Amino acid sequence: MVTLSIIKADTGGWVGHSAVHPEQLEEARRHVDKAKADGLLVDGQVTSCGDDLALVMTHGHGVDDPVIHEFAWNVFLATTDVAKRLGLYGAGQDLLSDAFSGNLRGLGPGYAEIEFDERPSEPVICFFADKTEPGAWNLPLYKMFADPFNTAGLVIDKNMHTGFVFEVYDLFENKRLEFTCPEDLYDLLMYIGAPARYVVHGVRSRSLGIPAAATSTQRLSLIAGKYVGKDDPVMIVRCQSGLPAVGEVLEPFTIAHTVAGCMRGSHHAPLMPVAAADATPARFDGPPRVMALGFQVKDGKLGIPRDMLADVSFDRARQTANEVMDYLRRHGPFEPHRLPLDDLEYTTMHELEGRLAERWEPLPGVTPTKPVSAADDAFAPRIGRSVH
Ligand code: F6R
Ligand code: MG
Ligand code: MG
Repeated sequence: MVTLSIIKADTGGWVGHSAVHPEQLEEARRHVDKAKADGLLVDGQVTSCGDDLALVMTHGHGVDDPVIHEFAWNVFLATTDVAKRLGLYGAGQDLLSDAFSGNLRGLGPGYAEIEFDERPSEPVICFFADKTEPGAWNLPLYKMFADPFNTAGLVIDKNMHTGFVFEVYDLFENKRLEFTCPEDLYDLLMYIGAPARYVVHGVRSRSLGIPAAATSTQRLSLIAGKYVGKDDPVMIVRCQSGLPAVGEVLEPFTIAHTVAGCMRGSHHAPLMPVAAADATPARFDGPPRVMALGFQVKDGKLGIPRDMLADVSFDRARQTANEVMDYLRRHGPFEPHRLPLDDLEYTTMHELEGRLAERWEPLPGVTPTKPVSAADDAFAPRIGRSVH
């Protein structure tokens, strides 16, 4: 069995929240090379998407392993030191705890991990996004593993025809549910169509009984109780031979679907598929970006990554994203460009609201149900309500 882990964190941005500094990448690579030499990792590579630094690692320790997680935590501490030395923006932003304890759950960094028996040929695609949230993978995963208009194999490959099981997390109430598709298709959509709360955590094949996809499902705002930046997600998808083909896995990103994130984590904007070199949000801290590195895993080794979304066939999706961005930007601070109050994660607005509380007056001829001067929490994000 081999475990593929992507562990990522924003440990400081160059410039602002737009990218990771080359010296941070260099520092992370030094640690990863040492971990390979020491035998902790079978293989490891370092990459970045926007201001998030990601470690792509193979090892034999399984998922949620304390040693692997602590290794990643220590790498992020080291890249935070680089960020502090260079005065990078938001140094150590995603490290929400002073100390590591057991595993990374609840500590800030995001991770997607999958453990599998390596097939004779093992094509895997690792996705990285910036300026959005884990629910951004819901729509693409649905299309890859449940939509026959996207994935021809669901109709004409006997191993795929039986369908896939989706494991969905409720991030607000910390519970999970498995949907067996195609039977549970409509129920699945009922939930994952609300990606701020319900997030696909993993997908597995029914006929092969093997894991097919894994996502990072942390939400920093839920962990920290206040806005601390979007928990830009990562995802692993295995491809081919009874799983969706590489082209079926990439196809959903031609939509440039709308996600929550972008400026101040508080706006809807299109998810733009890009080459690794273009994974640097710029305009209005966006548009949110997704990049994809493909690997042919062999004996646990990652080999040379292929920049899957660099292809010219995604040019039109990039153009769509730019056009949708133009249209949404014209709404300025109005919904639906700005997120609805319940999903808004920028809690400073609540503080501003307090200043106006005394100025609200009852409507003429209507007896208010509570003292008008009491601030009614309208701008308090539901999830951060206890910490203002
Ligand atoms: C979004 C993000 C940025 C910041 C924005 C303001 O995930 O990280 O859009 O929210 O640049 O940043 P501060 O408040 O740090 O000046
Ligand atoms: Mg950031
Ligand atoms: Mg980021």
